[in-house]
Amino acid sequence: MSALTFQALRTLADGRFHSGEDMARALGRSRATLSEALKLAPDMGLELFSVRGKGYRLSEPLEFIDLGAVREALGPAADRIRVEVADEVDSTSSRLVARGAAGSPSGTCLVAEWQSAGRGRRGRSWVSALGGSLTFSLLWRFERGAGHLGGLSLAVGAAVAKALADCGAARVQVKWPNDVVVDFRKLAGVLVETSGEMQGPSLAVVGVGVNYRLPERLVDRIDQPVVDVAQCSDSPPSRSVLLGRMLARLAAGLEAFETRGFESVREEWRALHAYQGRRVRVVPGREAPFDAEVLDVAPDGALVVGTATGRVHLASAEISLRGKD
Ligand code: BTN
Repeated sequence: MSALTFQALRTLADGRFHSGEDMARALGRSRATLSEALKLAPDMGLELFSVRGKGYRLSEPLEFIDLGAVREALGPAADRIRVEVADEVDSTSSRLVARGAAGSPSGTCLVAEWQSAGRGRRGRSWVSALGGSLTFSLLWRFERGAGHLGGLSLAVGAAVAKALADCGAARVQVKWPNDVVVDFRKLAGVLVETSGEMQGPSLAVVGVGVNYRLPERLVDRIDQPVVDVAQCSDSPPSRSVLLGRMLARLAAGLEAFETRGFESVREEWRALHAYQGRRVRVVPGREAPFDAEVLDVAPDGALVVGTATGRVHLASAEISLRGKD
């Protein structure tokens, strides 16, 4: 997207009509150039009306991230986290992985209004909408080694789930390894990428994508059941407040993880697990799928399931409720 697209969308963010002529003049561009720039809005999940004699109007008001509101919601954690906002990047996680390797400090957070190539787990893409999703990554450095980060992504999932519950979302749970779900539908996804020395130090880039208010036409493009914050909460906070609260929860969770590892949150995680005690279909990476019962989560974050032939520890796999999902 061009910088002009974002400038024009900021003008249109109030959800009212704005004349093309006035906007073009204020932005110092021709009407044709403005019209070209706004043609990109549907690609970002927006619905834009253009009415002769009235101008342009978005179907709904659009909220951009407000750094002041993020900092306020962060509270004391603002000392440890520095938030940067980009209008558009390919992937906030890709950017922070590169910046982590180049020495960026722990606590660097990059939030994107729009990701053009958001990444999900297992090589999938992450679909989001401008103003309708929250997409950010947080770089965190650990003294403990990369070999001692087992369960980190589960700890992150729990922190994200708690922040969403703090913000009024009802019935928030986690799904192993690190999805955040409501009634078995995905509310948020977590992608944790780690690097560093086996014995330490190490670093993690924690990427979080939250479905905030997903337009229907975007939901149709997602290949699994999803839900958004607007559906789960009577009075959802702004995306900025949600981001601040989430970062505060993440900072607390990551600090606890540094000292006690996954043990710091294992009990809580177990209580939050929507699939605890359930019969599930397990799809391991390359081996054949099988049915099992979810028994527990191990100290290293592996899922412990019971099968006809005994207990199995799953380090990575996909699970789904048997018979549906
Ligand atoms: C998943 O459930 O598959 C994980 C999704 C993680 C998406 C977030 S959005 C912000 C960050 N940047 C990315 O490219 N991915 C993560």
